[in-house]
Amino acid sequence: MARGAPAYVCQSCGSAHAKWSGQCADCGAWNTLTEEQAAPPAGASARRSTKGRAFALETLEHSGEAPKRRATKIAEFDRVTGGGLVPGSALLLGGDPGVGKSTLILQALAAYANAKHSAVYISGEEALDQVRLRAARMGLAKSPVQLGSATCVEDVLSTIAAGPVPDVLAIDSIQTIWTSALDAAPGTIAQVRTATQDLVRYAKASGTAVILVGHVTKDGQIAGPKAVEHLVDAVLYFEGERGHQFRILRAVKNRFGATDEIGVFEMTGSGLDEVANPSALFLGDRTGLAPGAAVFAGIEGTRPLLSEIQALVAPSSYGSPRRAVVGWDSGRLAMVLAVLDARGGLGISSHDVYLNVAGGLKIAEPAADLAAAAALVSSFTGKPLPKDCVVFGEIALSGDVRPASQAESRLKEAAKLGFTRALVPAGTKSEGLRLERITDVGALVRQLGESHG
Ligand code: TYD
Ligand code: MG
Repeated sequence: MARGAPAYVCQSCGSAHAKWSGQCADCGAWNTLTEEQAAPPAGASARRSTKGRAFALETLEHSGEAPKRRATKIAEFDRVTGGGLVPGSALLLGGDPGVGKSTLILQALAAYANAKHSAVYISGEEALDQVRLRAARMGLAKSPVQLGSATCVEDVLSTIAAGPVPDVLAIDSIQTIWTSALDAAPGTIAQVRTATQDLVRYAKASGTAVILVGHVTKDGQIAGPKAVEHLVDAVLYFEGERGHQFRILRAVKNRFGATDEIGVFEMTGSGLDEVANPSALFLGDRTGLAPGAAVFAGIEGTRPLLSEIQALVAPSSYGSPRRAVVGWDSGRLAMVLAVLDARGGLGISSHDVYLNVAGGLKIAEPAADLAAAAALVSSFTGKPLPKDCVVFGEIALSGDVRPASQAESRLKEAAKLGFTRALVPAGTKSEGLRLERITDVGALVRQLGESHG
């Protein structure tokens, strides 16, 4: 494809095609190709010089100190970033519209600024008065955050270059930012990618930590964070259900720290509150007497997290039974149901099955299998699990229950919250809790049938 010639770029996967068509040949998405001018090469000289500049190669050995981080003092935010922002790094904060990204960033910047760092907040979405109104609502109006409203990346960079180099620069949001170097409309992949590249280059050159806010939509219609994840040093996702006030900040990529770490927040009338003890929050006011509920002792990153898995199994009135899952993988549910039938002899597959993780939490751990199975069996048989019991373990297709990692910290957390028993894989050890070791799903079915028959 000739450089500078228009290309048809898929807004879902970012692949370029020479011709327009209704479906992207690479990812199969429909109606996602839009015409974009191909990006001019960085440096913009059309003719390549024949010889590059030679540079010295170096050893792997690290001579300098570890990167100095700048903590925000918002403990949950610092935990997820691995101890604070690294100077010269770029961080992407993604999330559904309305989840609270702007709120979180404003709060983090205010904390920075209050600690005598310089922080700049550029809003491309909201008018300055809207941002001020939010700051007032959150009690942050007096924080020395420098505020600007702009959508052109060149304007942003010139403005920043005119003053002293800030410690942190936040751009809200990357979808509204465009560069005059391209003809494509703001929000298209080419624009988002070029603007991100410019900002990342600025971060590296100046030592400013740059935070980019990006919207992700479930159907992937808007060019977004997915297309720039590889350009930045860290990617955080802010997630939560609309109807719940809990928000989870999750690191999915971090070149300077661990991923899979989570921070838990609660959306209140005056901004986001940190939740230091999320297990207590996710269990809420359980009575624990209804059949179909099981408490899963999970691990998120390095942190144990208890949550309630609720199941409802009901006779199906249709030919093909209904399945609905919130907070868990539906493929995983299908597998657990099949194993319960084939290896546990339960006959559950012909029923309607609904599964829900309480509190709006999303669980991705395989160790949740046994807890989900326990909830399903309990609902199917109508016998509740003991109130003071937690469950964890992975279920194999053979029906065997496999050990889960970090069993000790799961059980410790359970003991801390007053649980006294646990259904666990064989081989798990514990001092505090009474353990029922489950070797396979058949044993689970028998155990749940017996204990409260
Ligand atoms: P916002 O940060 O604007 O979301 P995003 O930038 O991700 O689109 O927050 C959106 C929601 O948060 C909005 O519906 C109102 C709610 N909210 C509160 O409940 N309390 C608050 O103090 C603030 C600032 C917002
Ligand atoms: Mg916003």
